Amino acid sequence: MSSDLQARADAIRWYHTIDLGNGVVTKGIDDSPYRLARLDLPASLAGASVLDIGAWDGFFSFEAERRGAARVVSADYYSWHGGGWGSKAGFDLARRTLGSKVEDIDIDVMDLSPERIGTFDVVFFLGVLYHLRHPLLALERVASVTRQLLILETVVDLVGIHRPAMAFYPARELNNDPTNWWAPNVSALHGMLRDVGFDRVRTVTPTPAVWYRAARALSHKLRGKNSLHDAFHQDRAVVHAVKT
Ligand SMILES: C[S@@+](CC[C@H](N)C(=O)[O-])C[C@H]1O[C@@H](n2cnc3c(N)ncnc32)[C@H](O)[C@@H]1O
Repeated sequence: MSSDLQARADAIRWYHTIDLGNGVVTKGIDDSPYRLARLDLPASLAGASVLDIGAWDGFFSFEAERRGAARVVSADYYSWHGGGWGSKAGFDLARRTLGSKVEDIDIDVMDLSPERIGTFDVVFFLGVLYHLRHPLLALERVASVTRQLLILETVVDLVGIHRPAMAFYPARELNNDPTNWWAPNVSALHGMLRDVGFDRVRTVTPTPAVWYRAARALSHKLRGKNSLHDAFHQDRAVVHAVKT
C-alpha cells in the first residue's frame, strides 16, 4: 500500500514537501515545513474560511484544514496547467491521500472579486506577489476578498533603503527566472497594504543581519541565481495585514 503510494508520488514533479502519511513524504523543491514555521499562522483556525491564492500542491491549504478551518479554497491557475510551472497532479494526489475536503478553483489573481468567489476570513498570498506584473492592482483584488486577516509572504528587495520602493525585473534578474517582475521593500509593502484597505500591517519575520545577507548572497552567486550585489539586497518577508 505505502510502496504503491510512494510510486505514485515519485511519478510527480512536486513543488511542496508534503507528508502524505505511511512514511511517504513528497520530494518537493520547496522546504515547505521551514516556510510554514516562518508564517506565524494562528495555532487554531477553528471555524474560519480560508482562501489560499497560488496554492500549487496545496501544502498551506491542507495545513489550514488541519488547524480547524471550516472551509478552505485553493486557488491557482498557472502551475495547475503546465506551461513550464508544473501540474495539478500533486494537489489531486495529496487531497485524495489526506482525505481532505479542500475545494479548488481555477482563477487568476487579477480575476478575484467578491462576486466571483465570495469573501474569506483569512487569505494566504504566499510566494505570488513577485510573479505579478501589476502588484498594487493585484493587492486590491486580494483585499477585496479578505474579510479579516491576510498572510502574505514575498521576496523583498532594496533591503536597507527605507523610502518605499520596488525593484523591477524586466528579464531574469531575480533567481534567473523570467516569471518574476517586481519585489517591494518592506516599507513599500506596508504602504501598499494600507493603501488597499488594511488597517494594521505587521512584519512577522526578523530583519536579517548583514553577515547573513552576505553569506546568502555568496551562496546565490555560487548557484548562478543572482549577482552578489543584487542578492545582498534581497530577502523574503512575511506580513500579517488586518482589517478591523
Ligand atoms: C512560487 S509558487 C508559490 C506556491 C505556494 N503559494 C507557496 O507559497 O509555496 C507561485 C504560485 O503562484 C501561482 N501564480 C503565479 N501567477 C499567478 C496569477 N497571476 N494568478 C494566480 N496564481 C498565480 C503559480 O501558479 C504558483 O502556484
